[in-house]
Amino acid sequence: MYILSVESTCDETAVAITRDGREVLADVISSQADMHALYGGVVPEIASRSHVEVISRLADEAVSRAGIKKSEIGAVAVSYAPGLIGAVLVGVNFAKSAALALGVPLVPVHHIKGHIAANYIAFPELEPPFLCLAISGGNTMLVDVRSYTDMRVMGATRDDAAGECFDKTARVLGLGYPGGKPVDDLSRGGCDTAYKLPRAHVEGHPYDMSFSGLKTAVINIVHTAEQKGEEINRADLAASFSAAVSDSLVPRTMECLRELGYDKVAAAGGVAANSRIRSDFEKAAKAAGVKLFVPPLRLCGDNGAMIGCQGYYEYLAGARGDSSLNAYATMEL
Ligand code: KG4
Repeated sequence: MYILSVESTCDETAVAITRDGREVLADVISSQADMHALYGGVVPEIASRSHVEVISRLADEAVSRAGIKKSEIGAVAVSYAPGLIGAVLVGVNFAKSAALALGVPLVPVHHIKGHIAANYIAFPELEPPFLCLAISGGNTMLVDVRSYTDMRVMGATRDDAAGECFDKTARVLGLGYPGGKPVDDLSRGGCDTAYKLPRAHVEGHPYDMSFSGLKTAVINIVHTAEQKGEEINRADLAASFSAAVSDSLVPRTMECLRELGYDKVAAAGGVAANSRIRSDFEKAAKAAGVKLFVPPLRLCGDNGAMIGCQGYYEYLAGARGDSSLNAYATMEL
């Protein structure tokens, strides 16, 4: 079955055509990053307006690139939560109209479940159950993927998301927005033990995480140096910071994996593109003798194909939306 899928939860507008979940025929993405870079972060109103401007054109382009007729589309899937409410609403309303016009079912998809499903596209052999570390700009959580649609959150950040922490660190280092990649690039030439940075634990909740203390520590180092007129070594700070984030994520994930007894672990979301986290994960998975799945970079960030893939499994499980489907800024998995 062909699915037309829509993603607009943050600053990427994306429309894809997938077949039977895992086969991607077209995945068209329009990023607004350059527009938001002028303001140092995502401006919700600009995001919503930009989604409105491009979404119809992207849908036409996706159908034409896939080489199918609109009448062949069997369902419309849409990322309806969580995200910037005005931005999500654009995708939801477009998807509702498309489903109505095509006379096909509408399938609501949780954005984080979509990120996890990016792994199914990249790895045809991957099937649940497995543990997935979902790390994006707005969310950081450890998810027990019990089946394609039944998931349990094993732990999550108590404050900032890992991606948010990368973006704030980039801002204070003068690296612009979005900051994850520039911090990653800068960190490669640095010493990861040059700056002592905290690795937080949440008492009594071994799989929960906290990044606000780390973020504040980086800001304090930079501001203190500025006040004293001292130079900081930006590459060393980026490397020490990346190591601290990775240390907060990778060992915790492996501990949770041991408790669950699975032999498969995955990562998902924009921050899964990080080279330090990827390499620490590879070492940890090798040492534990488990199989690691991390999507290629293009499938880590927001895209429409991952929504189409998860949408297929949600469709099979009977999930349906109608004209009353709403968008939600937050939603449990
Ligand atoms: O998954 P995503 O595209 O959007 C959300 O659903 O939030 O994730 C975006 C986040 C941003 O915070 C961005 O800075 C971060 O992913 N990111 C990275 C890297 N590439 C993107 N963080 C660390 N290292 C990277 N290489």
